[in-house]
Amino acid sequence: FEGMTIVELAKATGYSISSLQDMLVNIGEKVDSEFDPLSIDIAELLTMELGVNFRRLISDEGAVFQHRPAVVTVMGHVDHGKTSLLDALRQTSIAAKEAGGITQHLGAFVINMPSGASITVLDTPGHAAFSAMRARGAAVTDIVVLVVAADDGVMPQTLEAMSHAREANVPIVVAINKCDVPAADPERVRVQLGAEGLLLEDLGGDVQVVEVSAKTRAGLDKLEEAILLQAEMMDLKARSDGPCQAYVVEARLDRGRGPLVTAIVKSGTLICGQYIVVGSEWGRIRFIRNMLGRATASGRPAMPVEIEGLKGLPMAGDDVIVVDSEERARMLSNGRKKKLEKDRLLKARRRIEIEDTSES
Ligand code: GTP
Ligand code: MG
Repeated sequence: FEGMTIVELAKATGYSISSLQDMLVNIGEKVDSEFDPLSIDIAELLTMELGVNFRRLISDEGAVFQHRPAVVTVMGHVDHGKTSLLDALRQTSIAAKEAGGITQHLGAFVINMPSGASITVLDTPGHAAFSAMRARGAAVTDIVVLVVAADDGVMPQTLEAMSHAREANVPIVVAINKCDVPAADPERVRVQLGAEGLLLEDLGGDVQVVEVSAKTRAGLDKLEEAILLQAEMMDLKARSDGPCQAYVVEARLDRGRGPLVTAIVKSGTLICGQYIVVGSEWGRIRFIRNMLGRATASGRPAMPVEIEGLKGLPMAGDDVIVVDSEERARMLSNGRKKKLEKDRLLKARRRIEIEDTSES
């Protein structure tokens, strides 16, 4: 809808030009001519009024693209050593000194590799109950590092992680961990993964496999290399200027600071002081902090940031968008809340109808 004129919108939705103009007046917007292109926010507000589905597609035409760090999500079965592996990797990195400052529950880190490259890493829990969190981890990432314990082998959440990665169309790098334990059998893990349809490199496929031990640190350099090689092949770029879009990994309420959101910037630059809409909440960015808890003026693509300043608590998985003014932010947030409520009522009504028919 971005850049659409009222005339075009009327054609697309079947509404008359004058009724669309009335709606614009209702949402407090002046458009001089029905041939003027509408802003993306206004388009969204109008479609909410119309009950038409809307997707925000920011045109990248003419934008400047720059290389960006890879976003890597670590997944695997419970206790296979995902967090230990990350701890170990952080020590091999320049960020080792800073490691103590990292807040664990955010689940997002930046690892600075000795080569100078950096990656953004998301740690996911392996417990069966956290499937949604793993799905989110896969949705936002470029690469999945699948951790499989060499003694335990492929387990239910190993398979689940694989299917999340497949669904999200994300390449996998396999880390066979705990290779130090006497019962380790990396060969068996390879066979198991192959049997699940993973095309391992040693067997002519393109999925890299690295044997590691978070305990002895064996193979960690190889794992870093494998991740960087995979990232290099993907030639990851992002639009670094213009309106920011980001993805919420986690949202929580802090007693003193209010709603806090951990987000990963997808494109553009997030700047302190901007008005944002996150899911159906809005606010003005009071602070942007990096994962070490330090305030920073802006967030660049692939950077995990903590955002403070929202009026309400959004949900993990929500998108962050930047808007021009407080008024616009309020409006979009209100509109989205109303739409959510409408959808909720519709769903409830449908459920009642289904129950009715099943009773008769
Ligand atoms: P969840 O987040 O709960 O899914 O677990 P996780 O995958 O993050 O596992 P975590 O890193 O917490 O490690 C689980 C246990 O395995 C801990 O007791 C670790 O000390 C141990 N462990 C992890 N990596 C290794 C390894 O390479 N060798 C040995 N011997 N033990 C390891
Ligand atoms: Mg863990």
